[in-house]
Amino acid sequence: MGFPVGANIVSADGTETYIDDPDAVLEHAQHGIAEYRYDYSPDLLPEPTGDLSLWRYRNLLPLPDGPISYPLQIGGTPLHTVPALREMLGMPELWIKDETRTPTGSNKDRATALVLEHAIRDDRPIVSCASTGNVAASLAIGAASCGRKAVIFVPSTTSDTKLRLMRLAGATVLQVRQGYDAAFKLSRQAAREFGWYDRNTGYNPLTTEAKKTVALEIWEQLGRELPDVMVSPVGDGPTLAALAKGFRELVACGAADRVPRIIGVQAEGCQPLVTAWQSGRPIQPSEPDTLADGIAVEMPVSGPSVLRDVRESGGDFVAVPDNALLEAINTMAANAGLLAEPAGAAGFAGLLAAVEAGKIDRNERVAVLMTGTLFKNMGFGRAFTKPFEIDADLEQVRSIVNANHG
Ligand SMILES: Cc1ncc(COP(=O)(O)O)c(C=O)c1O
Repeated sequence: MGFPVGANIVSADGTETYIDDPDAVLEHAQHGIAEYRYDYSPDLLPEPTGDLSLWRYRNLLPLPDGPISYPLQIGGTPLHTVPALREMLGMPELWIKDETRTPTGSNKDRATALVLEHAIRDDRPIVSCASTGNVAASLAIGAASCGRKAVIFVPSTTSDTKLRLMRLAGATVLQVRQGYDAAFKLSRQAAREFGWYDRNTGYNPLTTEAKKTVALEIWEQLGRELPDVMVSPVGDGPTLAALAKGFRELVACGAADRVPRIIGVQAEGCQPLVTAWQSGRPIQPSEPDTLADGIAVEMPVSGPSVLRDVRESGGDFVAVPDNALLEAINTMAANAGLLAEPAGAAGFAGLLAAVEAGKIDRNERVAVLMTGTLFKNMGFGRAFTKPFEIDADLEQVRSIVNANHG
């Protein structure tokens, strides 16, 4: 029923043509699709149940009928109410969508799941991608779960923990000295040359389709309503672009009458889209200088569509310095019990900057996307202080607790 009825196909010279033959649409799944389209109607939306998972939105996914073979649990991540943060910020309608509750602790696992479901069905043994770290860890572990081999191209900035996870899962990891952009180009070339299934975000349109389910889940978790504002980190751009597509499709299906304003957040040390947004000029490469490796992307692949999505939503952009990212990690940990890596905390840091700049009203209903876990990056956050060493003595407990918690 909901299978894509058409897609915009991008040809080599960049022009887009719409095709409406469903078989041709699927055949193009690995070749330059700009956007899948469906025959939008309320019938494509799932019935309300307590059971959230990515696959429940399959009427809005390019996935032929048949049982799901991908074995890892995917989707259905929490939308936290964060009472202490709400109180602290005076924001009674603040929500945090926690995409760290996935098999490898980042929002990349949704895209990995749909791509690997296709790779399993098409009997493709090798799946490849380039990544600053999280996509790579996600693909390595996802591939291991379903008997595929992963070949992964990373820059030298990728954290040791993420590299270790990839190796643990048996992936072939190639570290490209010239950085992420070179790694991306090389991985595209290699996939073509060696016939691998290409999971690259920004190239494989299945990744956008899978990631848009975050927007669908938020809508369901808010009682089938949309927030006023959605705040999302932006690196290469597909995370935000997919959210925007999910919200647009909800409107097209008659579930809402407007999309939320989308606020894109970049690191001050790598803000090509913020600069283009503010200057009105074309996107220029920005040499990354930030500890948030997930959003340290010199020239975002999905940059133009992200600028358009933010503009059409009535949204805005903010840039946050690294010290605000570190502070955001601490604040989320200490006031919400949520553990984010620097790029994963960028949404929250951006929220604070946007509220401060008057771009968000404190009474609005705001959802913030938290994209990656601190567990893969434990070096960040509040400096480690040693625990109190005591004898097994209740009086020592009393005096320390009184001194520290009043
Ligand atoms: C934790 C984290 N947050 C945000 C992003 C940015 O996502 P996108 O590249 O889709 O803009 C990434 C990308 O790798 C990431 O790893």
